[in-house]
Amino acid sequence: MKTIIVGAGVAGLAIGWKLAQAGVDVLILERAQPARAATWAAAGMIAPTAESAHANADETQFARWSAALWPDFAAQIETQSGRRVGYKRDGALIVAPTDEAAQELRARSNKALLTASEARAREPLLSASIAGALWDSDEAQVDNRALGVALANAFLRAGGKLSPNEAAVRIETEGSHHAVRTPFGLYAGDNILIAAGAWSAEIETGTPVLPPARPVKGEMLALTPPANTLLPRQVVWGNGVYLVPRESRLLIGATMRETGFDISVTKQAENWLLDRAIALMPALASWTLDEHWAGLRPGSPDGLPILGETRLKNLFVATGQFRNGILFAPAVAETVSRLILGSAAPEIRSFTPQRFAEVS
Ligand code: GLY
Repeated sequence: MKTIIVGAGVAGLAIGWKLAQAGVDVLILERAQPARAATWAAAGMIAPTAESAHANADETQFARWSAALWPDFAAQIETQSGRRVGYKRDGALIVAPTDEAAQELRARSNKALLTASEARAREPLLSASIAGALWDSDEAQVDNRALGVALANAFLRAGGKLSPNEAAVRIETEGSHHAVRTPFGLYAGDNILIAAGAWSAEIETGTPVLPPARPVKGEMLALTPPANTLLPRQVVWGNGVYLVPRESRLLIGATMRETGFDISVTKQAENWLLDRAIALMPALASWTLDEHWAGLRPGSPDGLPILGETRLKNLFVATGQFRNGILFAPAVAETVSRLILGSAAPEIRSFTPQRFAEVS
């Protein structure tokens, strides 16, 4: 069996890796470099609680299942690639600015609600003006930049083939047979998977079949602390931002703006992120700005992932992960590879690409 995957982000690589392990001949076509778009720009959080505020029941269940798959997924990538991915389950504090917000957090989770002084004992950099915080010891993170490199290696070592700098331009279809046209060639496969993140709807097709994924820009910062200052021990959420300790830096994310395929960084976003982070942790005012970047999340019209077979047999899609591309990766790999191999994947039935009127 031959599968052509469009997109070497975390989803395309993880699905391709699973398929290659199952003996499938897999070629991934990547418009730029593997894992250098949203996978690289992300914060690497595996945060089913913190990201659950606007999720529906199916998405929350999928997120929890995927978070549970993460420890094995990370260990297997490390074994097969020989590279570390930095998976850590070191928990998250979700800060409540008011008593009302604290009660909302309590309703969302069965985890411990800490008083302000308990939260500050766990994270001394927190502002004195918080009302409390939810402490979820199961929230985790992975070094997403290291993950991208490791996953690409694991995929190649499993026998997968990767063609960087080769953008898919068009899907050419005859009945249930499809091929991907690029500027350099035409690649036919028994199955085609579009896993091109925010670019997934940009590929031409003879008939409307690719669901309307769209880019949602996120800007992020990385700060370095002054000498002899410790980083927070866990991820902290609050004030509309999140703070992620990663190696020797603190990542601050993220804005959400819809400005097409623009990944320029702006002073406005820098100030917005810094103001909010400093209000949450006043000491950050003296930290040094080390990096500022932007990436494009793949958004979907209803905010849910888009996973499964299109109305054209043998043409599959994995996009629309929006804020949860890293969190969802193991569950996306498991379910979409299963579908491509011809088995059922009831876990993603409600995420079918066929739910959109434009392409059904
Ligand atoms: N997962 C965090 C974000 O998308 O900003």
